[in-house]
This record gives sequence, C-alpha cells and structure tokens, in this order.
Amino acid sequence: MAGNRLTTSLGWDDGAVVAVDQRALPHEYRLLRLESVEHLVEAIRSLAIRGAPAIGLAGALGVALSVRRHSNGRTVDVRAVHHDATLLAEARPTAVNLRWGVSRALRRLPDGPEGVLAEALAMLDEDAATNRSAAGRAADLVISLTADRPARILTHCNTGRLATAAVGTALGAILELAGRGRVEEVLVDETRPLLQGARLTTWELGEAGVPHRLCVDAAAAAAMARGLVDCVLVGADRIAVNGDVANKIGTYGLALAAARHGVPFIVVAPESTCDPTLADGSGIVLEERGPEEVTGFGGVQVAPARSAVFNPAFDVTPAELITAIVTERRVIRPQGDGDGDRGSLAERVA
Ligand code: MRU
Repeated sequence: MAGNRLTTSLGWDDGAVVAVDQRALPHEYRLLRLESVEHLVEAIRSLAIRGAPAIGLAGALGVALSVRRHSNGRTVDVRAVHHDATLLAEARPTAVNLRWGVSRALRRLPDGPEGVLAEALAMLDEDAATNRSAAGRAADLVISLTADRPARILTHCNTGRLATAAVGTALGAILELAGRGRVEEVLVDETRPLLQGARLTTWELGEAGVPHRLCVDAAAAAAMARGLVDCVLVGADRIAVNGDVANKIGTYGLALAAARHGVPFIVVAPESTCDPTLADGSGIVLEERGPEEVTGFGGVQVAPARSAVFNPAFDVTPAELITAIVTERRVIRPQGDGDGDRGSLAERVA
C-alpha cells in the first residue's frame, strides 16, 4: 500500500484485503478494508471488486483470510475453510478465474496461513508479469494489423489495472501501444448497465493521458461503418476449448459488427481465463443480475415500476468471429489461420 492510494486494484495489508471500491469511481477514490470472507464475497457480488483477473486474486486472498480466521496457531479447521472457499468460488458464476484463484490458494492449505498467504501474494506478482507479457504481445499484433499509422481502437467494459493486479489485459495492450506512440484514439463503450467503460476505463485512460472518446454502446457499430475503428480490443471472463469467449454483455454484438466491417477483433486475457473443461461456450454459466440495474439510471427510476427485465451480465462470442486470442504465452487464432490452432486451448499453458 502507498499512502491512501493503491498502486493496483487490490492487495493485502496486515490481516485484511484492501481494495479500490470500484462502485465509487470516478467521483471518489475510496479504499475498502475487508477483514472477513463475508465482506469480501459481498464486495465481489456488488462489483466493488470486479474484472475476471481481479476477482480471481480476491478469491485467493479470501482463502488466506479464512485460514487465518480458522487457525489456532497449531491446527486449521479445514472444513470451515472449505465452506468459505465455496462461498468465495460461487460469488459470481461466469469468470473461471474466481474458481481458479480459490482452488490454487486452497492447495497450499497443508502449509497453514503463511503458506496460503504466500501463494495468494505470489499470484498477485504473477498477474503483473502476465499483464505485461500479454500486453506486449497484443501490441505487436495490433501494429502488424494496422499498417504504419497509430490505431483507432474500440474497447468495451474495463480491462485495466482496476480489473487486474497491474496494467490490465486489453487496456494494458492499449497503454502499451500508447507508450509506443501507436494510438490515435480509443473509443470507449459506456458499457450499460453498470457503466464500467464510462466510469472506469475513461478514468484510467485520462490518468494515463491517452486520447479517447466515450460513446454509447449502440454507437459502436456505426463507428465501424464510418471507418472510425481499426481494431476492437476486449478482455474475457472465460474461454472455452474451441475459442468461444464469454465477456461483458455487448461483446458479441461488437464482434458481429467487426466481422461485417472487416475490423480485427482481438481478445486479450490471461491463461487463467481459459477453461479446459468446456468444449465450447454453450456450457458457460452467464450471470443474470437484478432488474434495478436496468430500470434505473444514477439512482433515478427511468422505466415503469415493476417492468420485467432481461439483464444478462455477459454474452458468448463464437470463436469464428474472433481474429485472435492473446495470452501471456501465445497468440491463438481460433479460425485456425496464422500461428495458432484450435486444439491449443485444450490445456492451460502452465
Ligand atoms: O461484470 P464485470 O465488470 O466484472 O465484467 C468484467 C468484464 O467483462 C471484463 O471484460 C473481463 O472480466 C476482463 S477484465 C481484464
């Protein structure tokens, strides 16, 4: 921790998980201090902590909290820790990183509180390295696809440092490109209904001094039709073996529009987002959230009271619409052309 600001989205401080409260941004930069698994689960559910890599790391830190609480210095109440681990793993259903983070920390249970905490902290460091590697690889790819001039990039949701332990995935690639002088402009989808693009991505791009414009989600296809977008860069919550990708609701529509207009559609995500147990995206559980997120805006009711609502938080983009999936280890071309192949997603690269 550095003063009252974190250098990243979350961390550990003297027996507690500390995290930027993403519900309050951009108006207020507020830190949460979470000393119990129950509070951490609530922070994940309410999107105070959000983004697939960040909730995976939060899950691992949550196991560390639990082991501390259920240890008497000599023995650990393993049943109680497993109960907490289940609560953590089920806090949100779509991002596979959450289960991955929890189970990886749990594997160190025989090493007691210190061992579990060491594992969770190592995962934070690894995520930072992962971000840098994927961002560099994705930046190289974008440069190879966008000829000799700075790119106009469209992005969705928030995939930056708030969603990870370092620079981010898709947004990390955008910052890397900006650092190399290769960004003309970023178009940021507002990302209804919770406005991760409007509230968080614009905040991160503003802090980094990267030129950007905010647009409503419905303007994205029109921007592509008008030739304003060279490349779409998004993150992922779960990637199936065939390359189908679950990500924030609206991603599928972007991929359809990108395919229609010949715009490269690139997914940037860590290997921990790949799910080797799912052959394709049809088995991914897509979280549905409460109606109030859609019927109101900024705390004001806009739809008639008791309107029925369809509010999926994620959708699945079929592999055939994806130009490339970039991880910290490889570039996968789900359509089979180029240097990747479909089968390579059958395993996470350790
Ligand atoms: O509901 P959220 O805000 O957690 O959804 C986040 C996304 O969909 C991100 O694109 C994804 O988790 C990748 S974050 C690097």
